Amino acid sequence: VSISKKPYKGTRDFFPTQKRMQNYFFSKMSKAAESFGYEPYDGPMLEEVELYKAKSGEELINDQIYSFTDRGERFVAIRPEMTPTVARMVSQVHKEVSKPIRWYSIPNLYRYERPQKGRLREHWQFNCDIFGANDIFGELEILQIAINLFKSFGADHTMFEILLNDREIVDNVFKEVLKVDEETSYKLYKIIDRYKKVTPEAFDKTLNELNLDANCIKELKEYLKLNKTSDVIEYLKSKNLSDTSKRLENLSTHLNLLQLSDFIVYDPTIVRGLDYYTGLVFEIFDKNPDNRRALCGGGSYANLLKIFNEPELGGTGFGLGDVTLENFLVGHKLLPEFSTPKNDILITFQDDIATTQAMQVASELREQGLKVITTLDKTKINKVFNLAEKKGTQFVALIGSDEVTSKSIQIKNIKTKSQEQFKITDITKIQDYLKV
Ligand code: HAM
Repeated sequence: VSISKKPYKGTRDFFPTQKRMQNYFFSKMSKAAESFGYEPYDGPMLEEVELYKAKSGEELINDQIYSFTDRGERFVAIRPEMTPTVARMVSQVHKEVSKPIRWYSIPNLYRYERPQKGRLREHWQFNCDIFGANDIFGELEILQIAINLFKSFGADHTMFEILLNDREIVDNVFKEVLKVDEETSYKLYKIIDRYKKVTPEAFDKTLNELNLDANCIKELKEYLKLNKTSDVIEYLKSKNLSDTSKRLENLSTHLNLLQLSDFIVYDPTIVRGLDYYTGLVFEIFDKNPDNRRALCGGGSYANLLKIFNEPELGGTGFGLGDVTLENFLVGHKLLPEFSTPKNDILITFQDDIATTQAMQVASELREQGLKVITTLDKTKINKVFNLAEKKGTQFVALIGSDEVTSKSIQIKNIKTKSQEQFKITDITKIQDYLKV
């Protein structure tokens, strides 16, 4: 038998080019979060399955989780999402730390899904969560971080949109307008969550299986047609539910003031598949018709800490995946080139006696914080520039026997084609010359 060279189904090898891209994503993500004072955290790859059973929802538990029994008979899962972990961690420290708690992380997650465009079995997910924030202001901040991140990649409102809803509204429409019981409500959530993923006929079919009366279905369809915040507010008023719309109204006013309304669309079909959400829910979608997948999903969860017998401490956050982000950036031509590394200087020598001199200069420049590559063998002049290009350096040093005698090196700036000779003791001068 020969062992496959390919990575396990639905996972990726990150060769240097892909790893450079990942580092680029991660640095933008950290920057976006840290610009709002969010602190990095991390947790374990393995958690007890119970943690997800509590509130993550049946799809995750029944179809997607990677789970096994360990040698000590514990039933464990490779983390499929980060929210239960962060809630678990917050539950340990929330009494001691000042609120709001603002944390971010970029974990790799595993879900047993059918690998396809935008969906893999392992992905990295930027998570930003705030706990104990005042009313809509935590939600506003979370939306702002997501928008800022996209902007930092060069995206604008013509390229992506935030589809937003509030579960409190949905709960009240179900209870007060449709007058369905809790069990039917739960089923309706799951059906609406699949609204955009199925044909209208398939949607009607699953709806019919609930045996709702005709009026109820009519009411539901009326609700599902709403697509403007102002219409939702009117609608709720007409159903005597004006209290329910207060938060949406308030959020919408502030989004206007912060000039973020261009990014936001009210969408009654956004309810999210995870069970813990209780308030705001949102998903960010690519406007590119070839990539209609959620780039990001999030919302508010009021009672997740209760599963640890802790008092309520509401959280709001989102998760944004690297796979869909890459598709988004490629589609909008916003992804830079990562095929070559970036280094400061390539130091070459053309005579064996220059070997140590090349290494000495390289060491001194590294001590100054520069990225220095040395060839470990002598290099013919006609090969030097090609090599420098591959190594991503704008400067090359050449050292021959003459330079060894005069204790100097020649440095060429490939872009400007200028060249200068330096004494090897003049490290500061060399450093200045390498500044571009
Ligand atoms: P989610 O909607 O399950 O939310 O995932 C968030 C994002 O992760 C998705 O929009 C997508 O970009 C990416 N993603 C999810 N599954 C896959 C996959 N199999 N392959 C590639 N990308 C994927 C959550 O996980 C929530 N815990 C987010 C959250 C944080 N809510 C509050 N705080």
